[in-house]
Amino acid sequence: MRVLGIETSCDETGVALFDGTTNALVHALHSQAKLHSAYGGVVPELASRDHVRNLPPLIRDVLERAGCARGDIDAIAVTAGPGLAGALLVGCGVAGAMGYALRKPVVAVHHLEGHLLSPLLAPNPPDFPFICLLVSGGHTQLLHVRGPGQYALLGETLDDAAGEAFDKTAQMLGLGYPGGPEVSRLAQFGIAGALRLPRPMIDSETLDVSFSGLKTAVSNAVRRAGNLCEQVRADIAREFVDAVVEVLTAKSLLALERTGLSQLVVAGGVGANVQLRAALDAALASEGARVYYPPAELCTDNGAMIAYAGYVRLTQLSGATQAASAVPLKVRPRWDLCDLELA
Ligand code: KG4
Ligand code: ZN
Repeated sequence: MRVLGIETSCDETGVALFDGTTNALVHALHSQAKLHSAYGGVVPELASRDHVRNLPPLIRDVLERAGCARGDIDAIAVTAGPGLAGALLVGCGVAGAMGYALRKPVVAVHHLEGHLLSPLLAPNPPDFPFICLLVSGGHTQLLHVRGPGQYALLGETLDDAAGEAFDKTAQMLGLGYPGGPEVSRLAQFGIAGALRLPRPMIDSETLDVSFSGLKTAVSNAVRRAGNLCEQVRADIAREFVDAVVEVLTAKSLLALERTGLSQLVVAGGVGANVQLRAALDAALASEGARVYYPPAELCTDNGAMIAYAGYVRLTQLSGATQAASAVPLKVRPRWDLCDLELA
């Protein structure tokens, strides 16, 4: 079965063709980071317009490289939410029109399900069940994943997502957007413990986290420092990264302990963070547990994870498809992952 995947929920246009074997996966990505960097964040209207420009050529490119004619696609998977309404409408509009014209089914995919299944596209993937630490720009959640479509929320952020905290810290340190990779790079030059920032909720009994207090503490540290020299900026970045990493590592270990599981899957943009990966690798190894990541280029938003999640829904879960239809797909800017009935 050949599934065309389309992702346009935020600031990346992603397209992929997945045929059930990871080595034949073809995908293409257009990042809008440059377009939005001048504004320090994503401008929804610009995002929608850029998806309109880039989606059709990306689809042509992927099909051509895969040697697949449009009529040979078996199904189309598209992100229906959560995300920016206008941006989602572009992907869903194109997917719905293609499905109707080609008489192929269209499956509405939850963006976070794409992220959490993406480590299964790596060599030596984990078996179900596992704990998923989902850390993206909009979400920070710990989930108990029993199987495809069976997700129980164990804990989540009470305020800012981890990626959002990275992006805001980057802004305060005068770095570009998206901030995660830049803060991470600068942190490598910082001195550990040169200043002290809080580790919010690290000792609490719950699996919830909170990053807004940490963000305020960064803002205070920046103000106190006055004229920010390069070393002070690096020290603040280092302490911020250490704080986020320690909290996420402690809560991941607690989730494994509470459920008795020994596999952790890390997904979402912040999962690309080298400091987080090093800490999780070390902490889980010392507990006899294993950590799994998506292939590096599939950590941030992409079409491959959507094609794959669509493939899993079509092949392993019944009732997942919407038949070719002239009725447009419903987009869900807000959509709870634990409420996966169809759009
Ligand atoms: O999953 P993603 O691409 O999009 C959402 O669904 O939100 O995640 C984007 C987020 C951004 O906040 C970005 O700053 C963060 O992931 N990010 C990182 C790194 N790479 C991306 N954060 C920390 N370290 C990184 N290396
Ligand atoms: Zn994402």
